[in-house]
Amino acid sequence: MVQIAVLGYGTVGSGVVEVINTNHTSISKKAGQEINIKYVLDLRDFPGDPIQEKIVHDFNVILNDPEIKIVVEVMGGVEPAYTYTKQALMAGKSVCTSNKELVARHGAELMEIARVRNLNYLFEASCGGGIPIIRPLNSSLTADEIDEITGILNGTTNYILTKMIQDGSDFETALRQAQEYGYAERNPEADVEGYDACRKIAILSSLAFGEHVDYEDIYTEGITKITKEDILYAKKLGKTIKLLAYSRKIGQSFYAMVAPFLLDDNDPLYSVNGVFNAIFVHGNVLGDAMFYGSGAGKLPTASAVVSDVIDEAKHLNRNIMSFWSSTKVQLTDISNSQRRFLVRVKGNPETDLKNVEEIFGTVKLIKIPELTGEFGFTTEVLSEAEYNAKAEKLGTVISRIRIRHVH
Ligand code: HSE
Repeated sequence: MVQIAVLGYGTVGSGVVEVINTNHTSISKKAGQEINIKYVLDLRDFPGDPIQEKIVHDFNVILNDPEIKIVVEVMGGVEPAYTYTKQALMAGKSVCTSNKELVARHGAELMEIARVRNLNYLFEASCGGGIPIIRPLNSSLTADEIDEITGILNGTTNYILTKMIQDGSDFETALRQAQEYGYAERNPEADVEGYDACRKIAILSSLAFGEHVDYEDIYTEGITKITKEDILYAKKLGKTIKLLAYSRKIGQSFYAMVAPFLLDDNDPLYSVNGVFNAIFVHGNVLGDAMFYGSGAGKLPTASAVVSDVIDEAKHLNRNIMSFWSSTKVQLTDISNSQRRFLVRVKGNPETDLKNVEEIFGTVKLIKIPELTGEFGFTTEVLSEAEYNAKAEKLGTVISRIRIRHVH
């Protein structure tokens, strides 16, 4: 029997308990021995809930119990999760987590501590909710040099954008629903400002490229500036809007970015709706692969966490190799990256299109009948720096959205 402890009885922690209870027999079979939850650490008590008999309030009870071989950290946030994780690894216990904030910040260090002690620090649930993506990157796509990852990596924002586009919901109502379903972070700013997707693409890129991609170096825009008017333009163009997180390796240069993009209906990410996530991976010998599934929520996330518990139970005194060195990747400034843009400007095409064309060259005009005093256009391919200079010169830009180009 393998005794485990769960740190945190919130959405994911209670999901982990539920998954282990529901699938107890098959999980134990797959792990090769019975998995038993001995402790659940939480500040709160849960009177009347059967979990209460396992609740402890002091982490030292877990740390000092030699029977505990696996610690499941599902508390979220950097502290005290970082200290507890380090202490558990130092005490000879493997750790698995859904904590993307902690993994993005200290993943390389914690994996190294685990490696030298023949333990494991696994984090399948940190990216893409229930979608297997960390394990495929570590064990299945190892024949490849991965040169692109593009993902819809945040369920909350994808849910909000889908509701706004398909049902005409407003931003606040859709966010509230995402919170009710347990998709959103405690502070949903992390979702809607793109920080959560940023941390996830940093984790995936670090594993894919084998060196540390610092999330603080990644240019990040969220979805808070996307309006109903933007959506009218997207629809008129036959496109949708998605918050994309991507990283690319071109030669020896690395690019990474998180921002809303307009996608064509022939884009493989176009139909990824609601809370679903998808991760598109390009390898130099594989070509394209895409991973798709439930991207957030209690049970999908818990499913990924428990898969790590099983893997750790199967490898109790053996480190599962993966590559994420602490050497930092130097990201190239995005100002040279090139793409087309949808631009909304104040004015009327009859009087103002000429000025637009003088600055932007050939553009495609888009007029939305219900919007007066403004019009839109799509540009030719421009670098970010060129776009910014032209937009500043024009001086009448209301908003702009990048248009994704499928390579
Ligand atoms: N808040 C996250 C999301 C949870 O919406 O994707 C899953 O990591």
